[in-house]
Order: sequence, then structure tokens, then C-alpha cells
Amino acid sequence: MTQPWPPKGYNKALGPPAWSEPDSIPFEKNRLITINNISMRFGARLLFEDVTTSFLGGRRYAISGPNGAGKSTLMRILAADIEPSKGSVTRPKKVGVLHQDQFAFDSFSVLDTVIMGNAPLWAALQDREALYAKDHSDLTDDDGMRLGELEGIVGEEGGYTAESDAAVLLDGLDIGEKLHARKMSELQGGQKVRVLLAQALFGNPTVLLLDEPTNHLDLESVHWLQNYLLHFEGCLIVISHDRHFLNEVCTHTADIDYETVITYTGGYDDMVLAKTRIRATVEAGNAQREKKIAQLNEFIARFSAGTRSSQVTSRKKEVERLQTSELAKSNIQRPFIRFGVERPSGRHPLEIKGLSKSYEGVPVIDKFTASISRGEKIALIGRNGAGKTTMLRSVMRNAPGPNLEAECSFAIDAGSVAWGHEVSVGYFSQDHRQSIGAGVTLIDWLHQFDPMASQAELRGVLGQMLFSGDDALKRTEALSGGEAARLTFCRLMLEKPNVLALDEPTNHLDLESINALNIALQRYEGTVLLVTHDHDVIDEVASRIWSFDSGRIEDFRGPYEEFRAAADKVA
Ligand SMILES: Nc1ncnc2c1ncn2[C@@H]1O[C@H](COP(=O)(O)OP(=O)(O)OP(=O)(O)O)[C@@H](O)[C@H]1O
Ligand SMILES: [Mg+2]
Repeated sequence: MTQPWPPKGYNKALGPPAWSEPDSIPFEKNRLITINNISMRFGARLLFEDVTTSFLGGRRYAISGPNGAGKSTLMRILAADIEPSKGSVTRPKKVGVLHQDQFAFDSFSVLDTVIMGNAPLWAALQDREALYAKDHSDLTDDDGMRLGELEGIVGEEGGYTAESDAAVLLDGLDIGEKLHARKMSELQGGQKVRVLLAQALFGNPTVLLLDEPTNHLDLESVHWLQNYLLHFEGCLIVISHDRHFLNEVCTHTADIDYETVITYTGGYDDMVLAKTRIRATVEAGNAQREKKIAQLNEFIARFSAGTRSSQVTSRKKEVERLQTSELAKSNIQRPFIRFGVERPSGRHPLEIKGLSKSYEGVPVIDKFTASISRGEKIALIGRNGAGKTTMLRSVMRNAPGPNLEAECSFAIDAGSVAWGHEVSVGYFSQDHRQSIGAGVTLIDWLHQFDPMASQAELRGVLGQMLFSGDDALKRTEALSGGEAARLTFCRLMLEKPNVLALDEPTNHLDLESINALNIALQRYEGTVLLVTHDHDVIDEVASRIWSFDSGRIEDFRGPYEEFRAAADKVA
């Protein structure tokens, strides 16, 4: 009997053996995180089973797998945020974590957010503050004891220098002092990531866990982060759907597939290569065995009634021996996105005149005027903080379309935005995850956007986006990052608007889904306003570019390739 592939509990490092450990720390001591026999399931859905592996110091691991594979779940298990269904994890005391949900700290100040990176310290500071807030005469003896205890913790955890330590980190990450007292909700995407990174680094962790740190970062910031991580000396474990980033940064790749975790040596591309090679070998072996089995079976069928019974028996035995390796199904799947148009808009869906918007006296958009024709696909490009989201929100504030009330309150300083005849806008906001909300099933959530749709229709749309069967009854708060994006696409597919305004829709998506979105946008017959940092998508979708650069917006009528050629000429 041959082994099934992959064998249960398989996780030997595979791939090119070029890797050598950075120094001679004994192997045992260097295992910073060890997971023993862990399994994880949600209801009937098994993510992985009986996984045993270690993460070593000095190595930089990627966790790879398509949307919903269980990457964030595995990371939450490593971070001790959740318990696995089975098995145990040993980890060091100091683990720094950057979660996928970058909006979680919106109500806190920048400085507090960083200090929260040291959880015991933060808890002690909060308790201490609550006790000090009490009236002096109300303080009991127990309170006094507790205060002494808390002071001890604060001292031990470096509480007295916490604010200045946090400030030093923030400065290093290019978050100036002006921003330290601001609320997280006031920061734009790229700045938030930097603050959350400072939070993860606060207290010098030996293990750094980062879940999709490159989302919302422009190209230059991604380069900066790469460089930063290459100099990190502990054990890094990072999740990202950015292939280039993973190839640059990671020395190992822990891939979640076949209901297990297999570690390969090398970055993302090395992993794909090794994975396909192994698969091809197993498949070729299977094909050969199948051919042999067919020949033997033919012999058995022909002679089983005859005189050659001993030969038949031996051949039957051989067939049994030759059973092919059962090849576990790989979890890579392609969603199918298609944005229809219920009815076309007039020829001029949008007119912007003299639009201005500034934050605290700093102009972001300055007297911008543009006229947009039906069918144009405009990519808004530029660095973090350049004003792309501000532009989208400025036009969305009075956009016609179902269920758009959220943006009405956004104020502009001057100018006008006029939407044309028969326009209906579908919006994918940067915090689309928040706008989905919690507490309903996917199918109920979707139903509100098309009350006339039958259950079968809704399930059809969900199925196209890879939510099959019972997934329709999954609750919205359980969605992974990529699944939340896919559910928002379901909504847009139902609403069939004739204008799409999409703010970084490719964040959180795996490579297969980005590709599906790219094709859907190319085929879409309506008008598109699209913010993205994904070069391939900009290249293949856009017919017009709005380039945001140090307070100016260049309106270029042509595809990205021509835009770049023109920019090169000027430079
Ligand atoms: N509390 C929960 N209850 C039920 N299902 C859950 C829960 N949390 C996560 N899941 C499901 O487990 C699967 C794995 O989720 P996870 O967030 O780990 O995926 P991921 O690999 O990080 O995906 P992405 O690339 O989209 O971020 C998903 O199908 C998700 O819907
Ligand atoms: Mg995730």
C-alpha cells in the first residue's frame, strides 16, 4: 500500500537546501514557537489537523494559502488569542502582533495604541488610573494594596518610560510628534499600519507576528517595511498576499493546504515550485500505476472463469498492492466575478468642479475639475496620504445608489460634485469590513440589498464567490479578510450599479481573486473609479489616470503604460 500524499502530520522543510542558520544557537534553544499536534475546526469545517512544527529564531516565515485557508486563525493560535480545537503551543513571553483588522483601535490615541502592545502594562495602567480616579476617602485598604501591586507591575514593565519609548519607536517609523495625540480613526491607512507596527514592536518581542502588514501601504512604504524586517533579529512570521514582498523577505514558507501545514525552504515562488514538483511526481506515479492496474484487471476479467486461477489470484493481490496514492484535494480555487449593469447611465455620469478639501489647513484636493464620460475607467494612484480616499469620499457623499447613507456626512470645503442622469453607484469602501457589521448570516446580509431575490439566486451569487452550501449560513463576524471582500463583491453583483467606486478592493484578496477581479473590471460596461496599488490591475483596467502627487492631481487621459512613458520623458 502506498502512502497518501501528504502523509498525516507531514511538515519536514522542503525545497532548495541553500538555507543555513545564521549562527550556532543550539537547535532546541532556538525553537521560539513550537506547536504540538494542533487541529482547528469551525463546526464541520476542518482547517488543519494534527500539525506539529517549530518556528526558529533568525528565520523569517511566510504563512501562505488562499483566502479562508486559515492563515489568520493559525496566527491567532500562535498569538494565544484563541485556543486550537486540539493540541498545544509553547511560546516565549514577548510576542509582538499586528492583526489583520487595522480598524480595531480607532477609538484610541496613537500613543495609547502603541503602549497597548505591552498587554500586562496596559492593563495595570488602566486599573491604576481607575483607582486614582476614586475619591480619596473612598479608597479601601484593599485598594491601597492593589495600588502597590499595580505600581510594581508598572515599574517592572517599563511603565515610567512607556510614553517616551513609544515616541521613539513612532519617530523611527516616521510618525511625527504632531500625530501622537490624535485618534487612530483620523489617520489614513498607511499611517495606521506604521502605528500598529510600533505597537507590535513595543517591548522588544522575540517573535513578531504580522497579518497582512502591506495592506494599504504604497510601494515606497512596502520597500521600507521590507528593509525593516530584513534587519529584525528574532523570529518573524508574516502573512501577505503580495508575492514580491514574500519573496524578498521570507526564508521559509509554511503553506496551509491539504488540511495540514507544510514548511518549505525559500520564499513564495520557491514554495509554489516545490509544491507543484511534488504534486507532479505523485500524479505521474499514479498515472503509471493506474495503467498497470487496468492491464491486470483485464487479465483478471478474461481468465477468472478459466483454468489459470492461481495466476488470477496473484494478479488480484498485485492490484491491491498497487492502489494509487490518494491525492488530497488542493484548496486553490477560482472565484467568478461579473459585475452586470442593470441599466446604463447617461453619457456623463459625473462632473466635478473646483473641488477643494483640506484637513487642518493642509490642502489635499485643490480646485479639482474633471468631467467623466460613461465607460471610462479611472485609476487613482499615488502615495499613502496623497488624497485618493478623500477624493472618493468627496464624490460619494451625494452619490445616488442604494444603501449609501454612510458617506453623507463627509464634508468638502468648496466646489461641486454633480452626478448625471440615471446614475447608480456601487461602493467598496476602504473599511468595507466594518460596513458589513456583525450578527447576521451571509445570506441574510445579502438579502437586504435585493429583497426580491430568491434564496436560490442569492446562493448562486454566493457560490460564484466560493461560499458554497453551509457557508451561506456562516455569520458575518466569522469572515476572513478576503471573504469579507468577496461578500462585498456579491453585493455589487446583485445591485448591478452603472458606476463602481472601489477603494483598494485588492487588499486582502489572494492571487486567484485579484485575477478574477481584474478580468471582471475589464469586462464591466459601466464607469469605474478605482484606488489600488496593484500595478497589474492598474495596467490592465485603467483608461485614464488621476495621479496624486504632493498636493497636485494630474488628470491623464490614457492607460498606465502611456502615463509612465510620458512621466519618464518629463523626468
Ligand atoms: N469564529 C469563527 N466561526 C466560524 N468560522 C470561522 C470563525 N473564524 C474564522 N472562521 C472561518 O475559518 C476560515 C479561516 O479563516 P481565516 O481568517 O483564518 O482565513 P485566512 O486564511 O486568514 O484568509 P484571508 O486570506 O482571507 O485573510 C474561514 O472560512 C472563516 O470564515
Ligand atoms: Mg487573514
